[in-house]
Amino acid sequence: MFAGVEHVGVGVADTEAALAFYGEVGFSEVLFDFTGEIPGSEAFAGSRRRGRVVMLANPHATPVGPGRLKLMQLLDGAGPPPLPAGQGWGELGVSEVCLHVRDVGAVHARLAGLDGARSLMAPLDGAVPPHEVSLDIAYVADPWGGKLELIEWTGLWRSLPGPARAEGVNHVAFGVSELARSRAFYERLGFTEPLFESTEFFEPMASWYTRPRPEQHMLMLMAPQGAGIEPCLLTPLGPDCRGEWGRLGPFELAVGVSNLERALATLAAEGVALVSGPHRVEVGSGEWRYAYIAEPDGNYLSLVEVRY
Ligand SMILES: [Fe+2]
Repeated sequence: MFAGVEHVGVGVADTEAALAFYGEVGFSEVLFDFTGEIPGSEAFAGSRRRGRVVMLANPHATPVGPGRLKLMQLLDGAGPPPLPAGQGWGELGVSEVCLHVRDVGAVHARLAGLDGARSLMAPLDGAVPPHEVSLDIAYVADPWGGKLELIEWTGLWRSLPGPARAEGVNHVAFGVSELARSRAFYERLGFTEPLFESTEFFEPMASWYTRPRPEQHMLMLMAPQGAGIEPCLLTPLGPDCRGEWGRLGPFELAVGVSNLERALATLAAEGVALVSGPHRVEVGSGEWRYAYIAEPDGNYLSLVEVRY
């Protein structure tokens, strides 16, 4: 019923520039391009917001990098709210979107050189506990400051053969306040497969924090399909970096479901509250069907039934 992370919502300040940037990243396929009032936004913003939403797929997505990106530019009021102040990594709120790539070094060099982007972490390799799965990673910031991680799970799935390129979304990272509670919640949404767990501070992130660095407890949970999640608990928690809905940078995640009403009924029976929806938006010849559900820490979380 649940099929992993289908897409990650990324706030941008200029959709045309974002289409150019993320097109260069590899997300060149537009599944829908919608401008209008966004159902469900009133649950977070008080009144319904108007914006442009573009669902992007990477035609080179693979089973280990299957997720999509949903660009969102709020067009009314003061436009997109800013990135949360004081966000290092792992505070409450979405911290990053991670793409699986073939050849982290080459893709990092190319993306960091794109207009408005910059490197946040030079490529490095390592292995993560407890299974010592090897990986290469690097980070870039998109032109609006959103963190984009590039990963190649060399110990898990090297890549299909071919030139250096980014695939789709591998996982999304977000902060939580109680790891056991979040783990139990997301297990009910199908994220049952732990890939790594670490309680070591990840040293290459040290310069991202403008306060004394916190302890980091990171966990990665995969689902049998779709992209995975990387909840993180910081001690101390640090500032609330969920930000306003539709803010710049990766700000929300959407879990794919095969039948939205059935998934909502199942979750309702388990005590998971509906925040908003179900919503149905006509997008060309398809439909964008989704609902927002209550997440233990108030992170922006939706279910989406893909008919676009
Ligand atoms: Fe990550």
